[in-house]
Amino acid sequence: CSLLQGSTDLVGEHVLITAGPTHEPIDPVRYIANRSSGKMGLELARAARDRGANVTLIAGPIELPIPAGIETIHVQTASQMHNAAVKAFGCSTIAILAAAVADYTPSAPSDHKLKKAVDPIDSIPLIQTQDILAELSSNKEDRIVIGFAAETNDVVDYAEAKLKRKGCDAIVANDVSRSDAGFGSSNNRAWWVTSSSVDDLGLLEKRALADEILSRSLLFKTNLK
Ligand code: CTP
Ligand code: CA
Repeated sequence: CSLLQGSTDLVGEHVLITAGPTHEPIDPVRYIANRSSGKMGLELARAARDRGANVTLIAGPIELPIPAGIETIHVQTASQMHNAAVKAFGCSTIAILAAAVADYTPSAPSDHKLKKAVDPIDSIPLIQTQDILAELSSNKEDRIVIGFAAETNDVVDYAEAKLKRKGCDAIVANDVSRSDAGFGSSNNRAWWVTSSSVDDLGLLEKRALADEILSRSLLFKTNLK
């Protein structure tokens, strides 16, 4: 149970959250995806709702149930997630991009199911997707923009590089190499990385991490005023 239950500190905030993987079509029945369950994004949406925020959730294909009372835009691909996020960003005050967006998408998906006897392939041409976090960060004005970094090694170093490259306010760095945290797990081993500090948040349940991220985002906002 959270100490913040019953709190209304996010009343007046409009929190945009991206969650889950994206599916990039190869043909109508096959796609490229990743291991994200969407759990972290859903916990962020639930926590923000419980604390009084107006929440817009942009959800990739997620198997888990979406919490009630949350405006949800369902998308499949990185391109659809990009378009929905850009649209929703205008009226957001805090954006937390927890989705595991595909970095590459097939450049020319087939409009029919590929048949191995007819359309033999030995490679799939790919193009890079748009970086939603970098794009929103470059237009952030007085909004707070938070990104995630799921890493298997050199977790904090990579997160610091990502913070600089993307221009967001903070990166939540996760160690996904462990068996007790990360993709599909209820826990995350996380660090809060900003341009001025690296805070070790330890091993936390995703709901507790969600509350920590929201509190730190709000603090950022207050400090900027
Ligand atoms: N992200 C995004 N759009 C993309 C790729 C990533 O918005 N096309 C966001 C993720 O939601 C996350 C952050 O950027 O908040 C970092 O994602 P990550 O995959 O760790 O970073 P990349 O820059 O894609 O680097 P790499 O995968 O090579 O580590
Ligand atoms: Ca990536």
